[in-house]
Amino acid sequence: MVMSETVKDHPSTRYRERFFESVMGDAPGSILDVGCGDGAFLRRARERGCKVAGLEPDPGHLAALSQVGIPAQQGHAETLPFGDGAFDGVVFEYVAHHCADLARALVEAVRVARRGVYLLDAWYDETIASQRSALVFDRWSKSIDRRLGMVHNACPTATELMACLSGSGDLTIDYAQMLILKDMTVDALRAAGTEQLARVANDPTDAAALDSILDEARRVGVTEDGALIMAIRKR
Ligand SMILES: C[S@@+](CC[C@H](N)C(=O)[O-])C[C@H]1O[C@@H](n2cnc3c(N)ncnc32)[C@H](O)[C@@H]1O
Repeated sequence: MVMSETVKDHPSTRYRERFFESVMGDAPGSILDVGCGDGAFLRRARERGCKVAGLEPDPGHLAALSQVGIPAQQGHAETLPFGDGAFDGVVFEYVAHHCADLARALVEAVRVARRGVYLLDAWYDETIASQRSALVFDRWSKSIDRRLGMVHNACPTATELMACLSGSGDLTIDYAQMLILKDMTVDALRAAGTEQLARVANDPTDAAALDSILDEARRVGVTEDGALIMAIRKR
């Protein structure tokens, strides 16, 4: 399903909302949020009566989570420190593209989930020129992050995610691609690019690539990313 509409707020707010409600629709009694960040998903899930737990590598986030009473452990998606079927649901919200070994992370999530694994990540509709501009910028920006040592991969497609799961037993996989078409200004893109470029001391090759991305964005426009929402249910 591809939805198209115009909104004033940032599209990711709507994507997150849709994702949250789709997870809650399965009425999980317990949830592990892998890469839970500041725990926003888990706080809401707790308000709905779920038993919640987070896993997060960043010590800064862990300290903040403990202040709001969200139980969280330090760790990475690729090795989950939990037993088989320990949680009804395992969530990856904008985390899959940070996993060094996504296939291993998903197999681990399926192992730890009693009922399902739920995933939200960015998605670009490559049939739309303004989305291709955004995708090329995303690739450019992430290539700089990787050179600086960060794990920041392309957003996985549904096909890539499903390929990771062959051999993981009987699973029912549903997904939706959602796109709220919202224009970005070229000025906003340039500002984000300039900030990123400064991190590599205005490397001339990166600067030339950014110029060409901005030229294309001026020509065909640039729009905010869409979302891939996937549920991987155990049968
Ligand atoms: C874009 S943030 C998303 C945070 C939160 N899930 C949200 O939606 O607001 C990505 C998070 O994944 C965490 N992360 C990065 N690599 C990870 C890994 N290999 N396993 C688990 N979490 C990871 C980061 O520390 C960060 O909190």
